[in-house]
Amino acid sequence: MLRIDILTIFPEMLQGVFSEGILRIAQEKNIIDVYFHNIRDYTTNKHGKTDDRPFGGGPGMVMTVQPVIDCVRAVEAMDEASSRLIFLGPDGSKFSQPHAEEMSKSERLIFVCGRYEGFDQRIFDILNPEVFSIGDYVLTGGELAAAVIVDATSRLLPGALGTAESAHDESFSLEIDGKQLLDYPHYTQPATYNDLAVPEILRSGNHKLISEWRLNEAKKKTEKLRPDLLS
Ligand code: ADE
Repeated sequence: MLRIDILTIFPEMLQGVFSEGILRIAQEKNIIDVYFHNIRDYTTNKHGKTDDRPFGGGPGMVMTVQPVIDCVRAVEAMDEASSRLIFLGPDGSKFSQPHAEEMSKSERLIFVCGRYEGFDQRIFDILNPEVFSIGDYVLTGGELAAAVIVDATSRLLPGALGTAESAHDESFSLEIDGKQLLDYPHYTQPATYNDLAVPEILRSGNHKLISEWRLNEAKKKTEKLRPDLLS
């Protein structure tokens, strides 16, 4: 069981994501256990504030130290399992499949989602967390990024997907010379749609030839769509 805690001022924003599909099933099967915590519940500010204007001026608001630190400390104390503390922000390490694989081996992940211009620097100085970005663009907050990371991580957990193989042969799991490949093309019924036929080899029943064909198609597709992965 992987315990996942998500700290945010908008806990409701993600509830839909976790109530459908594989993420819902993974919770029902006790493969993941997800908890939301509202950072606002931890503020001592009498107006319930969790942000303030930046010292030195400039646009936007900055998340204040006290509610974030108190929320993280309280959540950490809720379970003894050793945890990774992960902040989301555009200035973090770029999240990719090997990170998902590594995270899927954890006992507990604590995600802290920021809003506005980000966090008061002293939050990082005190907690020394890991910081992850999901790409070189700026979101309105870390919530969607946390959902992306939890989704990519959860599906790798044993039992989360229907068949044992489903997470194996797919984009970023196929590799050649240590380089990751995109997935090969998939086909299902009907065998012909208008004049488009499924490649004959896939209907041959020859598993060795099928594997070779798939690897080769994955290579061709990667060369065409993501040559950067091979360089
Ligand atoms: N918060 C704002 N932008 C983000 C990004 N690209 N990744 C993760 N968290 C973010």
